[in-house]
Amino acid sequence: MTNFRSFARRSFILPSVLSFGLALVLLAGAACTKKAENTNEIVVGEYGSFSGSEATFGQSTSEGVKLAFAEKNKLGGVKGKQLRLISLDNQGKPEEARAAVQRLVTQDRVVAVLGEVASSRSLAAAPVAQQYQVPMITPSSTNPKVTEVGDYIFRVCFIDPFQGLVMAKFAALEIKKKRVAILRDVKSDYSTGLADVFAAEFKKLGGTIVADESYQAGETDFKAQLTQLKGKNPEAIFVPGYYTEVGLIARQTRQLGMSIPLLGGDGWDSEKLSELGQDAIKGSYFSNHYTTESTEPVVTEFIRKYREAYKGKTPDGLGALGYDAANILIEAMERTTEITPKNIRDEIAKTKNFVGVTGVITINEKRDATKSAVVVQVDGKVNRFIKTITP
Ligand code: PHE
Repeated sequence: MTNFRSFARRSFILPSVLSFGLALVLLAGAACTKKAENTNEIVVGEYGSFSGSEATFGQSTSEGVKLAFAEKNKLGGVKGKQLRLISLDNQGKPEEARAAVQRLVTQDRVVAVLGEVASSRSLAAAPVAQQYQVPMITPSSTNPKVTEVGDYIFRVCFIDPFQGLVMAKFAALEIKKKRVAILRDVKSDYSTGLADVFAAEFKKLGGTIVADESYQAGETDFKAQLTQLKGKNPEAIFVPGYYTEVGLIARQTRQLGMSIPLLGGDGWDSEKLSELGQDAIKGSYFSNHYTTESTEPVVTEFIRKYREAYKGKTPDGLGALGYDAANILIEAMERTTEITPKNIRDEIAKTKNFVGVTGVITINEKRDATKSAVVVQVDGKVNRFIKTITP
């Protein structure tokens, strides 16, 4: 097999218009045979859902990561070495996620791994990174269990106990709902964890959970569950799922004659949400990691660069988190005396007051980040900023 073919097979295909810097990252990848042994480069792995029903999660994250790497390489790389990224597609499947990390660590001998977005896939793969003592940073998995896997596993996003509290407070105190129903994905660690926190916090605030129904990702007909919910007369429905199902759920909710808002978490964040949910999702609210409406220079500058690199595309929260995760890794590598997985791990753990696009990031003793969240309202393709909530 030629180098090019093996490279092409394992790499996610970028949009055809690449900035010069991004093209360099790819060329560096195609040019060498003994990847990890080339001392002029540092090889980092990334795994994500580049295809499947959560494809925008992996694609957006990867765009953010590649932008950060290209910028650094243009400035001469880390300690004079170019960064090379190997991206593996897990198609949104936990077992593939695990296999991808196994391969990145044992065959490609990467010094660090970035990924996954979805908590269930991070949970499937993190034990491999931990076992081989290669640091892993998930940009966006919010379930608390992910970093509990071990001392090599980090995240740069907030966690669901906070996100669930944010939405419970928003439901009870801002839009003043008393009766809320839940529709959760029972196969997703993220969805069940977030649903449980929301329910507990909403009840503490005096609200009632009038119904708690479930589905599994991949289902397309939610009418039976929604009919059950409708019978309990809720004022809003909390749907802590991912965009593909949420879009369909929104439409079917309206088809059944319910005009109440849906509420959700970061898993809604995708350019596909409004395409799938159309008018039915308009006006609904979800908690997220950043807002494109921010006027902070670090955010506006990031959006400008991202649009320039990716055909005018506006970065979603995942693009922003991928960029932050990659830059935290880059800074940690810069601080090491020698680039080894152990040294990188130790430096990631020391991250303090890193000014990211998604907020100021300090890694705490649980290897999590304490950060604020925003609540946004879906308005066509744009998610309107409503409120920032700090821990
Ligand atoms: N937080 C989600 C999870 O843990 C993943 C996600 C993050 C999805 C951000 C979209 C945006 O599964």
